[in-house]
Amino acid sequence: MFDTAKITLHKDYQIGEVDPRLFGSFIEHLGRGVYGGIYEPGHLMADADGFRQDVLDLVKELQVPIVRYPGGNFVSGYNWEDGIGPKGNRPCRLELAWKAIETNQVGINEFVAWCRKAGADPLVAVNLGTQGVDAARHLVEYCNHPGGTYWSDLRKSHSIQEPHKIKVWCLGNEMDGPWQIGHKTAQEYGRLACETAKAMRWVDPTIELVVCGSSYRGMPTFPSWEAEVLEHTYDHVDYISLHTYYGNRDNNTKSFLARSLDMDRYISSVVATCDYVKAKLRSRKTIHLSFDEWNVAYHSSEHDQKIEPWLIAPPQGEDIYTFEDALVVGCMLITLLRHADRVKIACQAQLVNIVAPIMTATGGGCWRQTIYYPFYHASRFGRGIALDIRMQSPEYDDPELGMVPCVEAAVTFNPADGTITIFAVNRSMDKAIYLETSGGEFSGYHVLDHITLTHENLKACNTIDKPDNVLPRKNGDAQVKDGLLSATLARLSWNVIRLAVGIAQ
Ligand code: AHR
Repeated sequence: MFDTAKITLHKDYQIGEVDPRLFGSFIEHLGRGVYGGIYEPGHLMADADGFRQDVLDLVKELQVPIVRYPGGNFVSGYNWEDGIGPKGNRPCRLELAWKAIETNQVGINEFVAWCRKAGADPLVAVNLGTQGVDAARHLVEYCNHPGGTYWSDLRKSHSIQEPHKIKVWCLGNEMDGPWQIGHKTAQEYGRLACETAKAMRWVDPTIELVVCGSSYRGMPTFPSWEAEVLEHTYDHVDYISLHTYYGNRDNNTKSFLARSLDMDRYISSVVATCDYVKAKLRSRKTIHLSFDEWNVAYHSSEHDQKIEPWLIAPPQGEDIYTFEDALVVGCMLITLLRHADRVKIACQAQLVNIVAPIMTATGGGCWRQTIYYPFYHASRFGRGIALDIRMQSPEYDDPELGMVPCVEAAVTFNPADGTITIFAVNRSMDKAIYLETSGGEFSGYHVLDHITLTHENLKACNTIDKPDNVLPRKNGDAQVKDGLLSATLARLSWNVIRLAVGIAQ
């Protein structure tokens, strides 16, 4: 006997348009993210600029629309000026955030060139730890001003005639965290962010700005940090950032799978805080959310503590992801889709080698981790409009989070091609769940495919030797009958059910 879950939906009941930037990513100068990740001159697959073509192919497959750079904690001690001009003249620096050596062989121009190859826009963070207003406005001038000034002509002298036209910028990174170089109080940061935002916008009024929210929901200063920072910056910024990483440190899968409820509450609290400041300031402007670091991350923490300091590109943060991690990533993607009205940018952290869906072997091949697949499906099929569904599902009790639905789901409707996509995770450890819809919304629809990601071993991984151990399959049983959709969601499974109008071929 199956348990049953029910989705009620209608195409006219909508959360909002899904901003394609919801499927963004992040590359930091950390470990082998840049050096040995996207950039490895001398590798068999490297192009003339030193970028690995095999990695670019996987990135393009993910259709990542925007990539945050260069940090992360790294940015708070980074002099962007070190990374421009002839590579032979660039300094090696002690990199204090990750205790490594930074060679500066990749800087802003190389990163933008890589983004163009990947089909992504850059999302650039400025250093508000050790630098400030001046360095930030100079960077915008160097990147975005057409010419005839010191910094824009310097760019041209570096053989880049056309401005990069970088649209979205982050005002620092995690400035509430004591681990940050140049950590600040909300008041110190709020004032600096406000003045930096003004100067950056005076250089280029078309840019959009992300101000730093808390580093995670558990910070003691959350959410008063958000309120105070926004009171200083409200008129000058467009987004506030959120970051979160989850792990299964106690090996409690049921509780780990429920972590997306924490993410959901975090988003709702930040929305409420933004709107509190809006009301307080009597403003008509709405601040949106940039969830610009999110993922599962914990596998490599112990290993990383043993890494010697002052190495170049050490193998740091190299989490090898399990099947259960992919389910949590699926739940997090569903949560982002369900907040598509306010979350306009989200960056899975990170893209290559560092807590990443794509892994490389230095001098060798590359492969897709388990978490690659839910991201791939959501990025490919989660475009269009997020529908405001109602869910009924069996539940279980989590001591910290309360009642947790066994089925987590989001539905998107793409007006461009008329397709509807249901993303669903069955968290149940022991039962398949029978999913049905109500509303008769699917008259005239047929199932294009019902993709599933399942594995009998929760800890199964993909590795360079076994890259296809955890692989999605088109083996689900979804069907439409009398205008109603039904499907079996296998126990512990990620499901993507795609529907199109017309007669099944
Ligand atoms: O993604 C790794 C690190 O996590 C980032 O540098 C930092 O912003 C966050 O704490």
